[in-house]
Amino acid sequence: MTATLRQTAPTTASRILGVGGLRGEDVVPNDEIVGPINSSDEWIRQRTGIVSRRRAKPTTTLADLAEGAARAALDAAGIDASQVDAVLVSTVTYFEQTPSIAAVLTDRLGATPAAAYDISAACAGYCYGIAQADAMVRSGVARHVLVVGVEKMSDFIDPTDRTISFLLGDGAGAAVVGPSDVPGIGPTVWGSDGAQSRVIFQTEPWLAFRRAAGEGVPAGLEGVSWPTLRQEGPTVFKWVISQMPDVARRAVAAAGLEMGDIDVFIPHQANMRITDQLVKLLKLGPEVAVGRDIAETGNTSAASVPLATERLLREGAAKSGDVALQIGFGAGLVYAAQVVVLP
Ligand SMILES: CC(C)(COP(=O)(O)OP(=O)(O)OC[C@H]1O[C@@H](n2cnc3c(N)ncnc32)[C@H](O)[C@@H]1OP(=O)(O)O)[C@@H](O)C(=O)NCCC(=O)NCCS
Repeated sequence: MTATLRQTAPTTASRILGVGGLRGEDVVPNDEIVGPINSSDEWIRQRTGIVSRRRAKPTTTLADLAEGAARAALDAAGIDASQVDAVLVSTVTYFEQTPSIAAVLTDRLGATPAAAYDISAACAGYCYGIAQADAMVRSGVARHVLVVGVEKMSDFIDPTDRTISFLLGDGAGAAVVGPSDVPGIGPTVWGSDGAQSRVIFQTEPWLAFRRAAGEGVPAGLEGVSWPTLRQEGPTVFKWVISQMPDVARRAVAAAGLEMGDIDVFIPHQANMRITDQLVKLLKLGPEVAVGRDIAETGNTSAASVPLATERLLREGAAKSGDVALQIGFGAGLVYAAQVVVLP
């Protein structure tokens, strides 16, 4: 090899320039969903902290939710769609294998010809996206990256399922990441444990559904129906409590900080009891603002961390410049944590 390649000129630092969110239009209180699972408003409040969840109308599409959140984030960042170089959409509820919803969203926003692709990392998806956006901006491969976490979980719920469906909500959260004079996104601590892939899962693979629907029901596929989600709730709960505090501590240390430097804690909105346990195990004091969006939004998977961020900022519990520790974890199993400076 004789030729010497040129590489992109790196940028010193990146930060989140703006966040935005959009929740499903309908407020669905516990009382509306307890019948088919023989539960109660009291049980759900006590065991999960959820009072109501937001669900999108049947006519509202995943792209509608993503576009609303993305436009709000662009507005907050003061960035025009034409300035976006890459669009990353994290979701596990898009029905089309290809093209990506990121490409569709990019066109809707007027961000063409930005690079566009989807990320499948369930409830860690937004934090995975922030990790990638940070790396892209710092390496110089993109100047402004739009990261969206969007889910219409209601398309994957089984109203008779007691394991996960009652937790789930619909919405989208987005962030614009761009260059910065000082670091605004710390190193990401992330990983996976595929040996636990059946702990949170889709009931049937699409192929089984297709065979059962289109070709008569072959042996072994009796009972195959529209795939929905299930989980081994207590197993997930224990995994989060035993593993995620260390991931969170490593993210804080990697950013060169101590837990006492954290102003805001934004965990994935899985269960209020999980959030409370993490706050306790990380020894976060009462002065730390904590994302508790789950109470009124439910668990929106990839959208939950940015939606919780959006609420904290909108309601004034957190402010621009605050140092936030965010952590996502979920089906895979996968996880990602990083410290960010709030826009
Ligand atoms: C799903 C979850 C709320 C269940 O709560 P839990 O406290 O673990 O409940 P358990 O499964 O141990 O069941 C406790 C009791 O409640 C009952 N129960 C379980 N689900 C119920 C429901 N939806 N409504 C009413 N009762 C229920 C069980 O039958 C059991 O009754 P028993 O004591 O008479 O046997 C909880 O495990 C959870 O939130 N897990 C993690 C969620 C999560 O992070 N998901 C991943 C997405 S990222």
